[in-house]
Amino acid sequence: MTTPTDHHPTLQITGLNAGYGRAHVLFDIDLTIHPGTVACIMGRNGVGKTTLLNTIAGLITPTTGTIHLNGTDITRTPPHTRIRNGIGYAPQGHETFAPLTVADNLHVAHQAAKRGGPDPIGTALAHFPRLTPLLDRRAGLLSGGQAQQLAIARALVTNPDLLILDEPTEGIQPNIVTEIENAITDIAAQGTTILLVEQYLDVALRCADTVTVIDGGRITHTGPKDDLTEEAAHTLLAI
Ligand SMILES: Nc1ncnc2c1ncn2[C@@H]1O[C@H](COP(=O)(O)OP(=O)(O)OP(=O)(O)O)[C@@H](O)[C@H]1O
Ligand SMILES: [Mg+2]
Repeated sequence: MTTPTDHHPTLQITGLNAGYGRAHVLFDIDLTIHPGTVACIMGRNGVGKTTLLNTIAGLITPTTGTIHLNGTDITRTPPHTRIRNGIGYAPQGHETFAPLTVADNLHVAHQAAKRGGPDPIGTALAHFPRLTPLLDRRAGLLSGGQAQQLAIARALVTNPDLLILDEPTEGIQPNIVTEIENAITDIAAQGTTILLVEQYLDVALRCADTVTVIDGGRITHTGPKDDLTEEAAHTLLAI
């Protein structure tokens, strides 16, 4: 595995097609994410956003195409190895290990990832201070907003080069959305590359460097966020 350098994109996807059995969901996806940037993917329900993230995480095998992480081909690499290679994933729906405490959720992820870095659990908790008084609570008892923060923190303790977040603001009350948004901005400022699927345009435009729109399993727009006017985004997303 190479280490992150300026010479390779953090993530490079080329000619990717994927789906479920005979259901073809993603068509000819090309996507490049450069080190230290926040890439936001937007699109209506069911267009294939989660399918793309699951394919990057190794949970779905593409029918064609390649995925490179820091210049290394990971297209056939199993999911647990991708975590060790530097992909941290907080899936949609803020899933946690419900029977385990908050602390054990973080410890299990940290140990499984086998990735170094100074005090990743302390670092994750610094981004989500609301979790500190909850460390001994079972994750299954957390509120939706708390569980979402734990899900992101759990991906973060793997010390990822690429942090993937699938709709981290979905169903979350506004003040917690603001906290999550600030955490994303801070994590990015510390050098972690982020791939974010986000439903709220205002959150996306504040957090992201680039915005990619998917419709019907195809990329219909990609570029710097300033290229995406709010009017254009509303038209593209039909919202
Ligand atoms: N396990 C599965 N088996 C078969 N089809 C699936 C499966 N998961 C998703 N799909 C289908 O793949 C398509 C894309 O789904 P996906 O979850 O990627 O969309 P999405 O853009 O993430 O939507 P949302 O905004 O609702 O999260 C949908 O038509 C969906 O019904
Ligand atoms: Mg989804």
